[in-house]
Amino acid sequence: MDKKEQVAREALKFIVQGNVVGLGSGTTASRFIEILGVSDIRDKIVGVSTSISSSKLAREVGIKTVDIDTVDWIDITFDGADEVDKNLNILKGGGGMLTREKKVRNKSRNYVVMISDEKLVDTIPAKFPIPVEVLSFGKDTTLKEIEAIGMACHFREDFVTDNGNLICDCKPLDKFDLQELDHRIKAITGVVETGLFLGGKKTVLVSDGRQVRVLK
Ligand code: 5RP
Repeated sequence: MDKKEQVAREALKFIVQGNVVGLGSGTTASRFIEILGVSDIRDKIVGVSTSISSSKLAREVGIKTVDIDTVDWIDITFDGADEVDKNLNILKGGGGMLTREKKVRNKSRNYVVMISDEKLVDTIPAKFPIPVEVLSFGKDTTLKEIEAIGMACHFREDFVTDNGNLICDCKPLDKFDLQELDHRIKAITGVVETGLFLGGKKTVLVSDGRQVRVLK
């Protein structure tokens, strides 16, 4: 069993009959959806997807999904991440699904992040850039405005999000306060959302291939 499967199997234990379950995006979340799809609890929950691809996969494995707007809350969401730091700040959006993932997370009473141990870092962003979803209208102006904060940015090539927008991958050039950086990026007109998932209650499950650690 590889790390993704190990962490996804452990995550499944958090689901309770009757739950509305947020379904993340990416390879780890997809593994989770596949495992949920062959489990006994599959027909006793409903899913809320974070992307067109997770909706499609959920349908293929027999998980009933509903639109986020039809539920008052989501009981528990399971998603992957690109990096998680010592304070459990999370960097997401490697797959470009960050806005829907954040919308689903924000409506969730419990949030479970499934990662392998190499994604644990001291501070985010470490190796990955910060993805920023940007409207295509005025995109080059928006990019310059993000760069003016002190970031080096480029548009992800040949990529359009499920929302019809672009992803701008950004690396800070200097030391910065994460919260402030997030606020400053989001204050720019044309920016839809960032891949910084800061604060909030969460459980991080970390697989090292032998065991799964639980970080809260
Ligand atoms: C998609 C995401 C993914 O959760 C993140 O990129 C991790 O993906 P993987 O499990 O494939 O490593 O944020 O937008």
